[in-house]
Amino acid sequence: MQCSWKAVILLALASIAIQYTAIRTLTSKPFQLCPVPSPQNCGLLGGPETESPIEGRAGCDDYPYFSFNASRKTHIMVLATTRSGSSFVGQLLNQHADIFYLFEPLYHVQTTLIPRLSHSRNAADRRVMLGASRDLLRSLYGCDLYFLESYIKPAPANHTTDKLFRRGASRALCSLPVCDAFGPTDANVEEGDCVKKCASLNMTLAADACREKRHVAIKVVRVPEIGDLRALVEDPRLNIKVIQLVRDPRGILSSRIETFRDTYRLWRIWRATGRRPYNLDLSQLTVVCEDFLGSVSTGLSHPHWLKGKYMLVRYEDLSRNPLLKTMEIYDFLGLPMDKSVEEWIQTNTRGSTELSAKHKYGTVRDSAANAESWRLKLSYDMVEYTQATCHKVLHQLGYKAVKSAEELKNMSLSLVQDKTFVPFS
Ligand SMILES: *[C@@H]1O[C@H](CO)[C@@H](O)[C@H](O)[C@H]1NC(C)=O
Ligand SMILES: *[C@@H]1O[C@H](CO)[C@@H](O)[C@H](O)[C@H]1NC(C)=O
Ligand SMILES: *[C@@H]1O[C@H](CO)[C@@H](O)[C@H](O)[C@H]1NC(C)=O
Ligand SMILES: *[C@@H]1O[C@H](CO)[C@@H](O)[C@H](O)[C@H]1NC(C)=O
Repeated sequence: MQCSWKAVILLALASIAIQYTAIRTLTSKPFQLCPVPSPQNCGLLGGPETESPIEGRAGCDDYPYFSFNASRKTHIMVLATTRSGSSFVGQLLNQHADIFYLFEPLYHVQTTLIPRLSHSRNAADRRVMLGASRDLLRSLYGCDLYFLESYIKPAPANHTTDKLFRRGASRALCSLPVCDAFGPTDANVEEGDCVKKCASLNMTLAADACREKRHVAIKVVRVPEIGDLRALVEDPRLNIKVIQLVRDPRGILSSRIETFRDTYRLWRIWRATGRRPYNLDLSQLTVVCEDFLGSVSTGLSHPHWLKGKYMLVRYEDLSRNPLLKTMEIYDFLGLPMDKSVEEWIQTNTRGSTELSAKHKYGTVRDSAANAESWRLKLSYDMVEYTQATCHKVLHQLGYKAVKSAEELKNMSLSLVQDKTFVPFS
């Protein structure tokens, strides 16, 4: 098969309307409509909106020097939502010596394409966002970090930037050779220290570091459902393994109320006054439950395209049994778990609650207690309301509803049913 002009034009026409208009407005460079066939272009042209199995691949099979080597790299995705414990899971991967980890690069896509809303439910916005997201993820798994630059504001000059979101959460970006502020023995650089002491991020060096590592892991909280990732999962140049992290929606709600104080202000008013504000944005809750339901229903129905590529993890199980669960995750990934991951678990799952208050996004906390602490923070009527709204997904994931305030506050009564989600192999 060749990268024929026919295929190029066909693909370009089909996807141009969605993503490239959006991206073009972001870059000062003129965008090439008819790119010179090259591996990079093939990567771009396998765009999400055009990815029927045949069209999406057309022209790319002839490039054996394409930088992906599926037999070598594992492309790990932590698919989660905000306040579901994804930073914790991200760290379990970040700590591994062979893994290059990125913390939510899609942040840049969202802030650039859809700056107005944090959780847009507009169908058109959503498609633009997803199309661009898949293209970006595909590039990042191939260690093409320059691709990310189109979304960073202000635009990086000379492939250097101070604005990469949560750079400090990525070990590889805070250590040699990307950052020379710390010696090889400074094992665990604090996120804040990294940002303070490292010079601007040289994207060329970062991309080199990515290529040096055997595997790439990316944490994603801005893709609603696993079904939205099908085009990536099926891409023959990638070797994607999705770890879908879920958490009790009641716990997510409680954690968001604490963390996103402005956005969830009305929920706090409800909690404080005992009355539900009439103008409460209910979608802040329903979206979580709908997305979980969609994702989990797809995942657990074992469609052929997810075979060997999907694992469902409940945050509560991870909190109760971090080491065991982490071993299961590495088993699923087919990678040996290394010593530094184990050490990180030992030191970070027994931290005091005071520490966790200081580290708003941190992972230093008593993880088991933290997973259930929502029960002491939400009022019973908020819980009751959440249970009614999310009853399907609660049931599906094995989270028990409570029938009274006494049950809610009785911590010797577990609300997490024993339930095993075996990876689909
Ligand atoms: C891909 O990686 C494997 C394992 O490192 C290696 O044996 C193989 O030769 C590589 N293939 C290509 C095309 O580089
Ligand atoms: C980029 O590099 C060039 C050549 O070294 C230099 O002249 C220019 O000032 C740099 N631009 C910025 C914004 O640093
Ligand atoms: C970034 O790193 C590359 C590779 O070492 C180097 O050639 C380049 O000059 C660096 N860029 C800047 C702006 O320092
Ligand atoms: C809490 O739940 C346990 C287990 O069901 C029960 O034995 C106990 O009586 C309950 N405590 C209160 C105060 O309701």
